[in-house]
Amino acid sequence: DAVEDLEERAPIVTIMGHVDHGKTSLLDYIRDANVTSGEAGGITQHIGAYKVKTESGRTVTFLDTPGHEAFTAMRARGAKVTDVVIIVVAADDSVMPQTKEAINHAQAAGVPIIIALNKIDKPAANPDKVREELAQLNILVEEWGGKYQSQEVSAKTGQGINDLLEKVLLEAELLELKANKNRNAVGTVIEAALDKGRGYVATMLVQTGTLKVGDIVLAGSHYGRVKAMTDHRGRKMKEAGPSTPVQLLGLDGAPQAGDKFLVMESEREAREIASNRSQV
Ligand code: GTP
Ligand code: NA
Ligand code: MG
Repeated sequence: DAVEDLEERAPIVTIMGHVDHGKTSLLDYIRDANVTSGEAGGITQHIGAYKVKTESGRTVTFLDTPGHEAFTAMRARGAKVTDVVIIVVAADDSVMPQTKEAINHAQAAGVPIIIALNKIDKPAANPDKVREELAQLNILVEEWGGKYQSQEVSAKTGQGINDLLEKVLLEAELLELKANKNRNAVGTVIEAALDKGRGYVATMLVQTGTLKVGDIVLAGSHYGRVKAMTDHRGRKMKEAGPSTPVQLLGLDGAPQAGDKFLVMESEREAREIASNRSQV
């Protein structure tokens, strides 16, 4: 794409950390708190990814991966979907084996890390102890003269969560994330499954271009014409631009997490490529 076609896009964020340190709670809090007026009361669907507006009016996309396995599996498939990783550590606990693993994964992928010191509402919370343990892993937080942004948060009360989102946006600014929305969509499959009533349902993350209802999509060894798209609140969408996750109907099967997808001009060509791939 020519430079003049590139526009700013929302950062895509993955939350990782040790078991029970609060990944799901943080994701849930952010998703439910950042509902713009008029959409309250919608039934939230767990579609594996969602996009929120922050208090400052900017947008952040979250990938709801179950953990590092998904992140690693996606990376192994060559998928690069995450711009920023939030490492969550429970402040009433310690840096744990999976915390270290998560840090290693993010560093191996070259993705910037922000530390969320969660469960700060708990009387036993001791964030300084956690900062100290992180320092021993060479993760020195800004308050201590290091380069890592960190934020004390509570996924229970919401304390610090807006600040955490603003820190994500600050990190994103440094990355100068850009995409061209005026082209055929390209992106990555987040998850896909057969739904009894609706057929194959795939959560796709559009990374470049704009995906539209009616487009012919090739995704891994599957293809199809986009019948319908919805967001995580089940609202119908006609099109989806860069950094937008959608739930998509119309594929002839379930592609794998981490598979690339792209829009093709010819249905025949998409079918041929899909069928060649499925024979491998
Ligand atoms: P796994 O997916 O099993 O690895 O866990 P997780 O990291 O997603 O943690 P989860 O969100 O399931 O939270 C684990 C427990 O901690 C739950 O009982 C949450 O209610 C509780 N919890 C999470 N965040 C907070 C918090 O900020 N404050 C308090 N008090 N409890 C929290
Ligand atoms: Na849990
Ligand atoms: Mg969880």
